[in-house]
Amino acid sequence: MIPGIPGAEGRVGPKLVLGETGQTRLADPGYRGRAKSVHEYVIESILNPGVYVVPGYPDRTMPPWYGQKLSAAALDKIALYLESLGGTSLPPRP
Ligand code: HEM
Repeated sequence: MIPGIPGAEGRVGPKLVLGETGQTRLADPGYRGRAKSVHEYVIESILNPGVYVVPGYPDRTMPPWYGQKLSAAALDKIALYLESLGGTSLPPRP
């Protein structure tokens, strides 16, 4: 679900407000990924969803093949957008 986007109303995955939730993911002692920033975390979550499964959500549910469909530039734009959502500390970048 992405707040404010008509149709992006899925209930299977977490609400995509990484500006609000991203730091919590990175700080989770159970996080074993390689991301050093929320930006990297979003890209990692798309390329390899199983690296960190958000507590309370199912593993092996998020499609693993988006990395084969999206260019590096598209991944970068998606991450910039999602990391701007929900939080107050991170203003959207141009
Ligand atoms: C382009 C489309 C998608 C993007 C950009 C995307 C992005 C993400 C991101 C960034 C996370 C981590 C969220 C967090 O830490 O709060 C996530 C988790 C998740 N996504 Fe997606 N997602 C997409 C499509 C889907 C679809 C189609 C499904 C299932 C029908 C799905 C299911 C899930 C689930 C179950 C999780 C939580 C478990 C986990 O962390 O692997 N996603 N997704």
